[in-house]
Amino acid sequence: MPSLFWSGKLTLPMKILVEANNLLSLLFRNANNLHAMKERVKQGYEGKFSDHVQQYDEYGYHLQNRSARIQLEGISFEGMQILDVGCGTGALACVAFENGATGVVCGDIAAFMLKMAKGKAVAVNKDYTFCQLDAEGLPYRDNSFDAVISGMTFGTLPNQKLALAEMVRVAKPGGLVCVGAHGPEHYWEAIDASFRCIKKRYILGYRLEWWPRSEEYIRRLCQRADLENIQSKRVIWRNEFENGLAAYDFFAAISSSWWYAKFPPDEIEKDSHRTREYFNRKNINIVSDDIVIAYGKKPLMRL
Ligand SMILES: C[S@@+](CC[C@H](N)C(=O)[O-])C[C@H]1O[C@@H](n2cnc3c(N)ncnc32)[C@H](O)[C@@H]1O
Repeated sequence: MPSLFWSGKLTLPMKILVEANNLLSLLFRNANNLHAMKERVKQGYEGKFSDHVQQYDEYGYHLQNRSARIQLEGISFEGMQILDVGCGTGALACVAFENGATGVVCGDIAAFMLKMAKGKAVAVNKDYTFCQLDAEGLPYRDNSFDAVISGMTFGTLPNQKLALAEMVRVAKPGGLVCVGAHGPEHYWEAIDASFRCIKKRYILGYRLEWWPRSEEYIRRLCQRADLENIQSKRVIWRNEFENGLAAYDFFAAISSSWWYAKFPPDEIEKDSHRTREYFNRKNINIVSDDIVIAYGKKPLMRL
């Protein structure tokens, strides 16, 4: 069970509201329903709640690509078969190929994201395979891949320990396991502004489905998963958008706006429109990226 309290940065008033609502979720018996939380995230990335998701690449690929480059910088995948868990539209796979991979299996829970990734892959002559999967239960045998990677997906996973254990399980002995997770400051300005603006009655009693982590936390997770030679780093930068509208469009597309799963369908567009206007009025045009990267090797088999 992930901890009830939220591990990300917010302004104090929003922090108090979010934590009060997280506590309320205990009362409403929503706190432990991890399956429902995962399903809402999945539906978000299927494009169910926001047309913005269709523009995932248009609004955000350049930043996903930047994260992918930072995560895989200096890692050689020469001749390797790789699994990318939570591939989205394929930012990490693209860098893995540049770094020498011979084949990449792109796996994601959302069919819509896989469709977008596939659409791009047909244009390049590389050995791509696609698979709809859940990070918390990978559909592969033990010891299947030379390397298993995941970028900017861990924050959306309720059971990160299980997801990492699965990545380690399907990696070959001696294989690389590399996670790029959402850090505590990731998109915090946009989350704060959205939470300020959102019609709270619809999210009342639902805890936030978003689990950013510190470098120490992800490092410890890797240690507990028995990885060896663990290395980690955290990289933060601020993205400045032309105005609040552009910042909202980016945030809504990349995050998929899954929290609207709790809204009546005819309220979603109104709320999204109001929030977008709020971003503009308050000039919320800075959105931070915060990436926590950790990687290590699966131990060789012991006799
Ligand atoms: C923010 S996107 C990151 C995608 C990509 N790795 C990138 O860097 O652009 C998060 C992705 O995780 C996927 N995802 C969320 N929960 C998942 C799960 N339980 N199993 C597999 N993929 C999941 C989403 O569908 C989405 O494509």
